[in-house]
Amino acid sequence: MKKRVYYGGAVANSQYEGGFKYKSLDSQDLRMYAKRSSDATLNTRLLSRDDFLKAKENDNHKLFPFRNGVEGYEFVDTDLELIKELGLDIYRFSINWARIFKSVDGMEINEDGVEYYDKIFTFLFQNNIKVFLMMNHFCYPVDFIEKYDGFKNRKSIDLYLKYAEFVFNRWGQYIDYFVPFNEINAGYFSPYNGLGLLKEKEGYNLSDIFQSLHHQFVISAKVIKLAREMKLKAKAGAMASCFCYYPYSCRPEDNLKYIKDEQTYQWFYFDVLARGTYPSYMNRFFDENNIKFNILSEDLEILKENSADFVSFSYYQSSVSSVEEREFTAGNLVATIKNPYLKATSWGWQIDPIGLRITLNKIYDRYQKPVIISENGLGYRDILENGTINDDYRIEYLQTHFAQIEEALKDGVDLIAYIMWGIIDIVSAGSIEMEKRYGVVYVDLDNNGNGTYQRIKKKSFEWYKNYIKNNKGV
Ligand code: BG6
Repeated sequence: MKKRVYYGGAVANSQYEGGFKYKSLDSQDLRMYAKRSSDATLNTRLLSRDDFLKAKENDNHKLFPFRNGVEGYEFVDTDLELIKELGLDIYRFSINWARIFKSVDGMEINEDGVEYYDKIFTFLFQNNIKVFLMMNHFCYPVDFIEKYDGFKNRKSIDLYLKYAEFVFNRWGQYIDYFVPFNEINAGYFSPYNGLGLLKEKEGYNLSDIFQSLHHQFVISAKVIKLAREMKLKAKAGAMASCFCYYPYSCRPEDNLKYIKDEQTYQWFYFDVLARGTYPSYMNRFFDENNIKFNILSEDLEILKENSADFVSFSYYQSSVSSVEEREFTAGNLVATIKNPYLKATSWGWQIDPIGLRITLNKIYDRYQKPVIISENGLGYRDILENGTINDDYRIEYLQTHFAQIEEALKDGVDLIAYIMWGIIDIVSAGSIEMEKRYGVVYVDLDNNGNGTYQRIKKKSFEWYKNYIKNNKGV
């Protein structure tokens, strides 16, 4: 029997919405644009306590690109019509906690924010577009960080549950797929974005990071439990970023390094959430790095009883493991060794469609649960010429990746959906700039916050639209 994968698109609240004055202050509002001398993604995902406090007082909004995003708050009607015209099967978006609650520990609702999401959910429902809800995408109310130290505090479990309860009560009927945390492994590499932890003068403490991650695991399981108790139709997922490591050589040491890299950087997170247990290989890692944190016995039960229905991942590049010093290049969340067989984007992310097929096979083999590619796409410096963007490079990127998806389906992978990242151009999460564009829709806005925000269809818009229309399955 033929299998037809849903093809979709995604945005994330802080990178897209703007509408700063209609909500409470959130963690992404405080990340400042910094002009860089190279394209490689720098460590702009971390925020020190000093920067955080200064940013809170700074009302020069143009310096803080996430405050305006691409004005998705103002342009939501236009954008929803574009999504409909594109014929997406599934749309991924996220809710901003700080847009629906006036404070993190009060119960006062911001009606205006709730109505904004009402509009999106009902439009998608009426137009038969499936909803993939990312419940949290790197974005926390500022008082969650100031009062509670983010997810380091066990109280975060109750606070998040209160938020989740509101979301499910209000919009549960519309949700087809949900994931409690975007790229949950990001907390390890980017503790501010992933966990709401501020960088102190002495840097980050690994025990704090793993304590916070543990709380996010428990939250994920409790949110899944809640959805099941409420008898929502929605399927619950886990998500992490996948880096597809290759050993640099057939030297045994390189192979061992490759296994360890994948375990610590990606499998650990899925193992806890999709298998419901802490994997034994992490004990050695915790011991060797002197990582100590609290796990209650009731937490282990909750995890065991409430594992995810599906496994989803972001994929932008493959990576290389070696025990020797070699030349590095940038990548999503992690830098990696250069692979001589691959070309990279201007930002150094190594383009590898076969790596996507490999990742799909590995994930499905390991968990035997349905899979969703919840993020993939090409970040490129698009040029607007004669009123259009001839992004043949993006079409080629999509074509080659989609061909590998078809191969993976033939390999027997149970893939539910492919979701293209940044379907409408949005602010880059890693480098906080506008120039790195992923969309099939161009937004007239530059790195310094200048532009009309006008939406312009790129050449890839028509191409993706036809691909979805003609997709009869494999
Ligand atoms: C993922 C994030 O890590 O990568 C997205 O979930 C992000 O928020 C995407 O936008 C691409 O990264 P960047 O840095 O190019 O925006």
